[in-house]
Amino acid sequence: MTTRSDDTNLPVILVGAMTKDRVIGTGNGMPWDIPEEYQTFIDNIRGQTVIMGRRSYEVFGPDLTSAQAIVVSRGAPDLGVPVVDSIEKALEMARSYGVKIFVAGGSQIYELALPHANWMYLSEIKEDFDGDKYFPEFNRSQWEVTREDEHAQFIYREWQRTA
Ligand SMILES: NC(=O)c1ccc[n+]([C@@H]2O[C@H](COP(=O)([O-])OP(=O)(O)OC[C@H]3O[C@@H](n4cnc5c(N)ncnc54)[C@H](OP(=O)(O)O)[C@@H]3O)[C@@H](O)[C@H]2O)c1
Repeated sequence: MTTRSDDTNLPVILVGAMTKDRVIGTGNGMPWDIPEEYQTFIDNIRGQTVIMGRRSYEVFGPDLTSAQAIVVSRGAPDLGVPVVDSIEKALEMARSYGVKIFVAGGSQIYELALPHANWMYLSEIKEDFDGDKYFPEFNRSQWEVTREDEHAQFIYREWQRTA
């Protein structure tokens, strides 16, 4: 049974897709269209909480109806979901929901959330794409891959923080 004290220790999971060069986006969109990869994201977040930056939410919000979204913004107008002005407030609100906490980008929000993350579920897109939005650099010696699934166009990995 999940208890309240367990809820306060819910793991924080960064989830996303990037090229080998850490490209995650171009402008407000993604440089690739890989439905199988996007489906792994949708499957992961179903029934869970998803924290997203305001810019990404404006693009991906319509796809998040199976999850509880929380948007990080310094002052977005009413988006129909909770909006908070810091990653810490987003995480506090997410913990109160008692389900898995995913942080789904974009670049600015990954950067803010990385120090709080226990897990990263990352798809590495095999083809190279240009873009102007990047996943933050992380110290690979502090993370280990606990799952790796090969797909035609991407490799899905689950990374767990070890230090
Ligand atoms: N490949 C993937 O898996 C993936 C996933 C998601 C997104 N993306 C891509 O990422 C790109 C968008 O990323 P982005 O970095 O431009 O935008 P973002 O991280 O989605 O959102 C940025 C917004 O978050 C708010 N924000 C940022 N820092 C804040 C802080 N310290 N306190 C309060 N609010 C803060 C601001 O909203 P306000 O301006 O409203 O104040 C800011 O404009 C797009 O290209 C998208 O396609 C890729």
